[in-house]
Amino acid sequence: MSDQEIIKSFYFRHACKIFDKNKKIPQEKFAIILEAARLSPSSFGFEPWHFLVVNDMQKREKLLSVTWGAQNILPTASHYVIILARKKPSLLYNSNYITHMLYDVHGFTKEKGEARRAKYKKFQEEDFKLLESERAIFDWACKQCYIALANMMSVAAMLKIDSCAVEGFEMEKIEQIMQDEFSVDTKLFGVAVMAGFGYRLKEPPKKTRQKLKDIVTFLE
Ligand SMILES: Cc1cc2nc3c(=O)[nH]c(=O)nc-3n(C[C@H](O)[C@H](O)[C@H](O)COP(=O)(O)O)c2cc1C
Repeated sequence: MSDQEIIKSFYFRHACKIFDKNKKIPQEKFAIILEAARLSPSSFGFEPWHFLVVNDMQKREKLLSVTWGAQNILPTASHYVIILARKKPSLLYNSNYITHMLYDVHGFTKEKGEARRAKYKKFQEEDFKLLESERAIFDWACKQCYIALANMMSVAAMLKIDSCAVEGFEMEKIEQIMQDEFSVDTKLFGVAVMAGFGYRLKEPPKKTRQKLKDIVTFLE
């Protein structure tokens, strides 16, 4: 991809508020978007996320009443993704999930794994004070979900696929739906953010952004 093509793809990406519901993203293209999510970086490499791809239109209908930010997105997106973030019980330094990540995924030796766990314990308890509330650690996991979200949207744009991030939902109500209708264990996961993917129905409005000089300071 040339320098110009990179910037072009960032102009191509916009918050697509309504999709052409007759156009479906080919499976192999959507697989690339998911791969961008999977390969995203995360703090300590603990991947505190799970991706629900909601193809079932009845399930999307359930989301509609509590997702004010996606009234035209939910019914028209080719693919709709809910990014779940892990909660405290599976992110604590001594949880089974962290042990699984250290040994089964990263393949650390016992010595290296325990050194890493000790570092993570200090990070959680002291450096970032993540254990002060359930919300603090959940929000920390959510931050990382947003990295995956950004990568998914950027890669989609490179593939000429439109997208829109969706944060316009009622958190408590959506969690109830996750538990009752989506078989999500809400003790372990909450909704970080959602996103629709598909093909635009109309051209986007002109992009508005601050000037680079107003948001960047070079310290030399
Ligand atoms: C985390 C996040 C959540 C968002 N939530 C919504 C949403 O619920 N509904 C919506 O229509 N747009 C949503 N947006 C889109 C933003 O309003 C949009 O990205 C912003 O106004 C900049 O416009 P652009 O993306 O077209 O450049 C969200 C964007 C982000 C990054």
